[in-house]
Amino acid sequence: MRSLSDQDHQVTQLSEQLVEIEQRLIPTGLHVFGRAAELKEKADLLRMVASFDRPEQEARSLPGLVAEGLGIEGYNDIIQQTTTSETKDLIDSIVKEAIDRFCESGANAASSYLSSRANVGVEQSLSTFKLLATINEHLDSNSELDSLLRSLRGEYIEPGPGADIVQNPLVLPTGRNTHAVNPYSVPSQAAFMRAKMTADALLQRYFDEHGRHPRALALVLWGLDNIKTQGEGVAQALWLLGVRPVRDALNRATEIEIIPLDELKRPRMDVVMTVSGIFRDLFAPTMSLLDKAVRKVAQLDEPPEMNYVRRNVSQRIESGAADFDDAVTRVFSNAPGNYGANVNFMVMQSAWEDEATLGDLFVTRKCFAYTRDSKGRTVEGREAPELMNDALSRVEATYQNIDSFEVGITDVDHYFEYLGGISKAVETRSQSRPSIYLSDSLSPQTKIRSLEETVRLETRTKTLNPKWYEGMLKHGFRGVAEIENHVTNTFGWSATADAVDPWIYTEIAQTFLLDEAMCKRLRELNPYSLESLAKRLLEAHERGYWNPEEAVLERLSEIVEAISGAPLPG
Ligand code: BEZ
Ligand code: MG
Repeated sequence: MRSLSDQDHQVTQLSEQLVEIEQRLIPTGLHVFGRAAELKEKADLLRMVASFDRPEQEARSLPGLVAEGLGIEGYNDIIQQTTTSETKDLIDSIVKEAIDRFCESGANAASSYLSSRANVGVEQSLSTFKLLATINEHLDSNSELDSLLRSLRGEYIEPGPGADIVQNPLVLPTGRNTHAVNPYSVPSQAAFMRAKMTADALLQRYFDEHGRHPRALALVLWGLDNIKTQGEGVAQALWLLGVRPVRDALNRATEIEIIPLDELKRPRMDVVMTVSGIFRDLFAPTMSLLDKAVRKVAQLDEPPEMNYVRRNVSQRIESGAADFDDAVTRVFSNAPGNYGANVNFMVMQSAWEDEATLGDLFVTRKCFAYTRDSKGRTVEGREAPELMNDALSRVEATYQNIDSFEVGITDVDHYFEYLGGISKAVETRSQSRPSIYLSDSLSPQTKIRSLEETVRLETRTKTLNPKWYEGMLKHGFRGVAEIENHVTNTFGWSATADAVDPWIYTEIAQTFLLDEAMCKRLRELNPYSLESLAKRLLEAHERGYWNPEEAVLERLSEIVEAISGAPLPG
C-alpha cells in the first residue's frame, strides 16, 4: 500500500477532527425543574444508549447486531478505529436510519427495517428497541415537582440509582431519591474491564509522545464519578499499579491480587492519588484498598525498571529522607471535614499574582495523607505537605477520567480546580510541566485526549457552537451567566495549565462582544455577566494568555465602562 504523504496525512487528521466535532453529544439548554426533557437530540441520545451491549437488560448494541447481520468480522476493532471507513460509515448509517424510524414509527417498524436491511433477527433488535421505548417514555415524564411536594409532606420518595443516562438508563425517571453505591462493591468487574482499556490507552498515548513510560502519574478521583461508573477511576489506578481487586467471603473488595509481570507485559506505574472530600466521605474502604495496593506493590521483589513504585520508594528511603511508611504514601485528600482545593475561587476572584500560587493552594488544601503508620494503624488525614511535594516532584503525567457527556471540563470550575491545580503543583515541584490527559470513557471508543485537545473540542462544540449558546440564551439571564462561566472556566485552564490557544479568546471576543447585535442582546439579558466576560478577556490579555489588536482591547474596555457606568436598572 502506498504510504500517505504529509499532506494526505493532514487531510485525514482534519477529517477525523471534523467527524469528532460533528458527532460529539452536547447538552443544549439547562434542565428546568419539573419540566420533561425537551430533547431535540433525543435520537442522538437513544443512538448513544443503543451503542453499548447491556446484558443486564438483555439488550444488544445495535451497531454490533448490524455488523453481525451483515457478516462483518472484527467489529470490536472497527469501533475502536478513530478513522472513518466505509464499513464503519455503513454500520453507522443503518443504525441512524433505524433510530430515526424508531422515533417516527416505533419499535416494530425499526426492527423490521433492520431485518430487511441488515438481516438482524427481529426478536434480537426488539429487545433493544423495547429498552429504548422505556427510556423514551421516561424522558417524556417527570415526577420532580410531585416528589418535591410529597417529600415536603414527609412522604416516601422511591429510590433510584445515580448515574449518567447513557451509563445507566435506569436513572430515569427523574424526581426520585438518588441512592449511591456500597463502597465495598467498588470497583465492579465491569468497571475494571473498561478501566483496563482506558488506562492502557493512557499509557500508550504517553509512550507514543515520549518513547517511554512516565516516572509517576497523578490521578484525580471524584466521589460522584466513581458512584456513576461503579469505580472506573479507582479501577484505572489499580490497573496502572498492576493489581486487581479481590473479594472476601462477604463479597467485599477489601483485598488485592498482584497481576504477574508476564501477564501485565509492562512496568507497574507509580500513581499519586488525590481524592475529593466527597470521595473520602463515601469511599473510606476504597482509600484503604488503594493504599494497601501501593504498599504491596512497593514490597514486591521485582527489577526496579519493571516496578516504578518500588524504584521510587527505594530511592527515597536510600536517600535517607524518609522511612518506608512515609515514602510509600500516595493517597491524599483534604483535612477531615474539609472539601475542595479552592483554586477555582482564587481564579474567579483574580486573587493571585503568579501561577505557582494556584498549585501551592492545591497542595495546602489537599496534602492530608490517608494511610497507615508503622504499626498498621489507619491514619485518617495527617497533614503532610512534605510527602505530597515529594510524591508530586516525580510526576510526569496528570490525568482525570471523564465519564459523562453532560458535564465537561469547561462546564464546571471543578475540573480546573482539581486537574489544573494538581498539574500546576506538579509543574513547580518537578520543574517541568506534566503531560495532562483526560479520557472519554463514555464513548464506545476508548479515547485519551490531551488537555489542549479537550479544551479545543469543548470550545468548538459548546462555547462557540450556536446550537449550544442559543440553547443557553433561551434561559435569558441564567443563560448569559452560563456563557460567562464557560469563558471563566476556559480561562482557568490558561491560569493552571497554559492549555488554551489564543484563537479561542479571539473567537470568544468576536462572537459575544465584538458582534454588536449579540453584545446588545447579552447586555439586555444580563449586563453583569457580560461585564464579567469582557473583564475576563481583558485579564487573559493582562496575564499574557492572549495578545489581540489594540482596537479589540479598547472595545472591551468600552463595554466594561459602559456597563459599570450605567445606572442600576429598576
Ligand atoms: C466529587 O464528586 O467528588 C466532586 C464533585 C464536585 C466537585 C468536586 C468533586
Ligand atoms: Mg505561562
